[in-house]
Amino acid sequence: MQTSTNITWHDSEVTKEQRQERNGHKSVIIWFTGLSGSGKSTISVALEKALFDRNMSSYRLDGDNVRHGLNQNLGFSPEDRKENIRRIGEVGKLMVDAGVITMTAFISPYEEDRTDVRNILDDGEFIEVYTKCSVDECENRDPKGLYKKARSGEIKGFTGINAPYEEPTNPEIVLDTEVESVESSVDKILSYLEEHKYL
Ligand code: PPS
Repeated sequence: MQTSTNITWHDSEVTKEQRQERNGHKSVIIWFTGLSGSGKSTISVALEKALFDRNMSSYRLDGDNVRHGLNQNLGFSPEDRKENIRRIGEVGKLMVDAGVITMTAFISPYEEDRTDVRNILDDGEFIEVYTKCSVDECENRDPKGLYKKARSGEIKGFTGINAPYEEPTNPEIVLDTEVESVESSVDKILSYLEEHKYL
């Protein structure tokens, strides 16, 4: 990748802290990670709605959606997944600067890529949420029929079948989506946000 030269950073006259104060809450990335079909999108959609209903400034970035636009030139090789996550980390960082509670729902299978995102943010601005669900259960659900295609060889390098998923070693929140309902998962995240004074 080429790097830019002759560029200068321009500061705003409005700070992140001022935006947070006006919004009445802190801004943060709530980073969902987990297998396809583990519940990332479903839970983040419900959480976004719950935050919106409480008049919070919140927005959701979702793997499938972002790959339709910003990241449409990326596939599923390890290098492309890395670049996918890097770009989302940078977009998320801008959204945090804008004062927004940002939810991201990407498989983000590599620990190193997730850590890289954590490291470009200030302390406490990255909450890793692991939607824990076995491959067997995700395959049972198979909401988009992708596991079936992966098993038949139609999709190569599918996470959990023939591409790796590295479980988070120290996530802030673990949601056991095989037993927890969407509602209780959302409550768990809201409680975390309240206890840690984000809201
Ligand atoms: S990654 O690994 O974080 O870059 O993936 P992400 O951007 O979240 O995109 C995952 C969605 O793409 C679909 N899809 C695949 N997933 C995994 N592996 C392969 N090979 C693949 N091909 C397509 C799938 O719909 C994923 O959506 P979710 O919401 O996770 O089911």
